[in-house]
Amino acid sequence: MSVYPIAVNSLRIVNILEVVRESPTVKTFIFRDRLCGSAAPGQFVMVWIPGVDEVPMSLSGIGSDGVCSISVGLVGEATRAIHKLEKGDCFGVRGPFGRGFSFGRRKVMIVGGGTGLAPLSALTDKIVKIDADVTFLFGAKTRDELLFYNRMGRVPLGEVRVVAATEDGSYGFQGLVTDVAEEMLGKERFDVVYACGPELMMYKVFLLAERHRIPIEVSLERLMRCAIGLCGSCVIGKYRVCKDGPVFSGEQLREVKDELGRFKRDFDGSKISV
Ligand SMILES: Cc1cc2nc3c(=O)[nH]c(=O)nc-3n(C[C@H](O)[C@H](O)[C@H](O)COP(=O)(O)OP(=O)(O)OC[C@H]3O[C@@H](n4cnc5c(N)ncnc54)[C@H](O)[C@@H]3O)c2cc1C
Ligand code: FES
Repeated sequence: MSVYPIAVNSLRIVNILEVVRESPTVKTFIFRDRLCGSAAPGQFVMVWIPGVDEVPMSLSGIGSDGVCSISVGLVGEATRAIHKLEKGDCFGVRGPFGRGFSFGRRKVMIVGGGTGLAPLSALTDKIVKIDADVTFLFGAKTRDELLFYNRMGRVPLGEVRVVAATEDGSYGFQGLVTDVAEEMLGKERFDVVYACGPELMMYKVFLLAERHRIPIEVSLERLMRCAIGLCGSCVIGKYRVCKDGPVFSGEQLREVKDELGRFKRDFDGSKISV
């Protein structure tokens, strides 16, 4: 069991250096924090908005100089409050927490949708530097929601093949990104698949990886409070997503197959459908 240094769990107040509008419902907030700059892609922070709430957010950018970012979709109270923040405003961060993606494999497929593209963007920045051959499949309902698509096509080092799928056909392949993944996995051999996005999408990608016997790593989302494995809010099967994840391997996903893509816990601990 890993032990968090006290500094990681201590609250730091950071200044917003810049705000970037990524889509009608997603904004990226850039800030500087030394500990976040040492995070592994896939790790997350708890973002505190005074008087409102504290919510988990993946790091969408991780700079070794400490310049990092979160990319926040509009969902409810806390994310609405974050969206109101501007350059020069502050918020609190704890973390980075959890287990990130592992890397070192050569031919990589990345499948993402919605704000799930945030940790995958940080992952891609890292693995192109170690010369992986990356195919990045982006999924969204419409063209406007294709987060980071242009940014990934411009990654300067290594090779990133980017493919977009929109449900309304306004850009790229018309349909679900999982359909594109299925077709590609039928034709090409990949060494690993990484996925993050809506849970039903990830469940489908997990089944595809199982069928093609390819290692997979998936970043899961659950409600979180403590982020250090104490409160149990984020439990899935025998795992706590904040500490054992949020990135899980195919072997671990097999152990929680009865809950994956089906149930999550509500604020009162009861099981609700995903
Ligand atoms: C490890 C991790 C990384 C995350 N990374 C990002 C990210 O990079 N960008 C991003 O925009 N969001 C991310 N999220 C989701 C984000 O934490 C929630 O959207 C946020 O907590 C919603 O807070 P709210 O007060 O705005 O909404 P609330 O008012 O709390 O909730 C509105 C609705 O969203 C649901 N909800 C709330 N929290 C979550 C959650 N954690 N997972 C699933 N459903 C939830 C509630 O059940 C409710 O139906 C991440 C979550 C986790 C666990
Ligand atoms: S958020 Fe408390 S145990 Fe995971």
